[in-house]
Amino acid sequence: EQAEKDGFAHYMQKEIYEQPRALRNTMTGRIDTTEQKVIFPTLQLSEASAKRVEKIYIVACGTAYHAGLIGKHVIERLAQIPVEVDVASEFRYRRPLFQPNTLTIAVSQSGETADTLAAMREAKRNGSAVLAITNVVGSSIARDADDVITTNAGPEIAVASTKAYTSQLIAFYLLGIYLAQAKGTLDADTRASLLQQLTALPDQVDHILQHADEIRHFAESIKDEQHLFFIGRGLDHAVSMEGSLKLKEISYIHSEAYAAGELKHGTLALIEEGTRVIALATQDELHEKMISNITEVKARGAKVLGITLDGHVELHRSVDDVCLIPQTDALFTSVLGVIPLQLISYYTSVALGNDVDRPRNLAKSVTVE
Ligand code: G6P
Repeated sequence: EQAEKDGFAHYMQKEIYEQPRALRNTMTGRIDTTEQKVIFPTLQLSEASAKRVEKIYIVACGTAYHAGLIGKHVIERLAQIPVEVDVASEFRYRRPLFQPNTLTIAVSQSGETADTLAAMREAKRNGSAVLAITNVVGSSIARDADDVITTNAGPEIAVASTKAYTSQLIAFYLLGIYLAQAKGTLDADTRASLLQQLTALPDQVDHILQHADEIRHFAESIKDEQHLFFIGRGLDHAVSMEGSLKLKEISYIHSEAYAAGELKHGTLALIEEGTRVIALATQDELHEKMISNITEVKARGAKVLGITLDGHVELHRSVDDVCLIPQTDALFTSVLGVIPLQLISYYTSVALGNDVDRPRNLAKSVTVE
């Protein structure tokens, strides 16, 4: 087992560090650099058929569900197709309304999650085409779907998912651009610029990983907290949810992720002197609003770590600690913003002496409903 960990202390740490390579693998063979477009050579969903898609459901569980939340933003923004994201275990029971030309996307690292499989079967029964985004070729979900985008992140052993999540995000970025090509919603220059920024992401992740030590210090400072909060807006809210889940899974510290604008509708009552808040602020459009939310919690005594883009000087002044991520398109910041959150949960778990790779009560793959 030690040999398989490649010198890392835990599988989770190894998998966090494998992300640059995993992300490159997700992109390999899917970008035509001459034409500056996305290609999916094995997909039956041709651009001609993708053009007809009018509605998308995304179904998934856990971390894959969080990737789906990002997928919704990306597809709606790039391809202008309305998307709903459902927790797979809820999907069937809420009787979703299927209309013609609906595509259902099932996201699953293992390809074996029973609820996700059941949700996609329900979609099929209702006449929807099903596209799977999975890390396991030949898994039940891959076999049952009409089409598969494999994430090619390599085997993920640690229960807490890391590289599978970020490679699912890359799959959604590629798919969003592909659907935009089909719909004609992106001009060639914007597309070329997005592809250029997309291919820069693995090196940018690597850059963040080289500064992991700073994050380790922060993690050690929160290990004795009873609860903490993650706040963010838009895509950052979705990333916050993943950060909060990660921390709960392996540190057992209670945390919640809030859409920062919702704070004043209740959560602010929980903020007191010394409450720790992790604020994600990577979205230029929402930057001012985030600064005012940070000011709100700080005025009540919160101690805030801000995660923001390199160059956002104003935010530095509003927070107690800051973690900088490299500049990229606003749609792609999630892949970078989640890295410090993965490291925070990892180092907190290590500092507490927990079983990082095998957290209590949890399984890597849940094959019962
Ligand atoms: C379990 C794992 C999570 C994972 C979820 C969905 O709860 O512990 O890490 O996100 O299942 O798994 P899947 O394989 O469908 O992505």
